[in-house]
Amino acid sequence: MLIFLTGLIYRNLVKPALFLFDAELVHTKFTDLGEWMGKYIFLKRFFSKIFIKDSEILKQTISGIEFRNPVGLAAGFDYEAKLTQILPQIGFGFGTIGTITNNPYCGNPSPMLGRLPKSRALLVNKGFKNDGAKKVAEKLKELEFDIPIGISIGRTNSRDLTTQTESVADIIKAFKTFEQSYIKNSYYELNISCPNLFGDISFYSSENLEELLIEVDKINVSKPIFIKMPIEKTNDEVLAMLEVIATHSIDGVIFGNLQKDRKNPCLDQEEVAKSGKGNFSGKPTYDRSNELIALAYKKYRDKLVIIGCGGIFSAEDAYAKIRSGASLVQLITGMIYQGPQLIAEINIELEKLIKHDGYANISEAVGSDI
Ligand SMILES: Cc1cc2nc3c(=O)[nH]c(=O)nc-3n(C[C@H](O)[C@H](O)[C@H](O)COP(=O)(O)O)c2cc1C
Repeated sequence: MLIFLTGLIYRNLVKPALFLFDAELVHTKFTDLGEWMGKYIFLKRFFSKIFIKDSEILKQTISGIEFRNPVGLAAGFDYEAKLTQILPQIGFGFGTIGTITNNPYCGNPSPMLGRLPKSRALLVNKGFKNDGAKKVAEKLKELEFDIPIGISIGRTNSRDLTTQTESVADIIKAFKTFEQSYIKNSYYELNISCPNLFGDISFYSSENLEELLIEVDKINVSKPIFIKMPIEKTNDEVLAMLEVIATHSIDGVIFGNLQKDRKNPCLDQEEVAKSGKGNFSGKPTYDRSNELIALAYKKYRDKLVIIGCGGIFSAEDAYAKIRSGASLVQLITGMIYQGPQLIAEINIELEKLIKHDGYANISEAVGSDI
């Protein structure tokens, strides 16, 4: 009942008020509020009582990590690592920090964030705004985490990084900084698919990806690594990337990142015309993410764990990704449009959907459409 009420109040009162203000400002204020709330045990207990819906059916152990439910916060919302102490209380099963890069970056020129309500999308042009690996690792190493924390690592967004070799070295330095900090209950996301960076460096070709992953293998990291994949590449291009990934010490892949195609049918063209530089999250990413999850699952189900990400606004959306082959799912945009109670709603409804289909655990539903 309280979850339902929270959603009703958010969608009818809170969201219309928040949407009157600049998106970047609202985001900063909300993450500050989340960080503040995470410091108070009574507030955490209060939220836990409302939003945590533990269920044996939703629990899984993946790559040696225990996930109490499959719904995670995707990379890009908590790039300053402010929310790790409150995400579990809202019901998340895991949460990503970053993307973090070896050197800090102040962000692309504003606006870095925009809203496209008719398209149920956000316009993103941050370009890896973050405090740098050293500062974030210092913060994280002091903390305990109730849920697994994904540390998303990418290439520093700088005009000074001009070659592939320099970019690989930069990413490896960031990995080493986190490895030396012994961060608890965590895994890595290697983001090779940010569309908003300086320069022409790309890890999409087999040769470049191979060169990067050889260096990653060499440092022998202690935690699982999942690669954040692009969604704008063709099936053949993605299969070529997966062929490389499957031969390295990589646990899985995340499908996927933002939508670059401004003609995507989910985008309202009037809203697109008013949008500046950047790429789109939310519904424009949904279908292609599902297609790529299925594509990867068909061929690599035994070698790679798949995390589904893109356009999840409901339990049905999450379940479609799971049935296509995703073991876990992540979201941002759905939470912004539907409200923070969406995570609990998805977990409650997912349990029902899984039971309805006659499965004893979510892992049995993974890939059941394929
Ligand atoms: C504001 C914002 C910032 C993002 N920044 C990152 C990022 O730093 N690293 C990354 O891997 N993905 C980033 N993304 C992409 C998301 O992680 C996700 O792949 C995409 O938004 C699709 O999920 P959604 O539709 O649930 O938002 C960002 C998305 C948003 C909305």
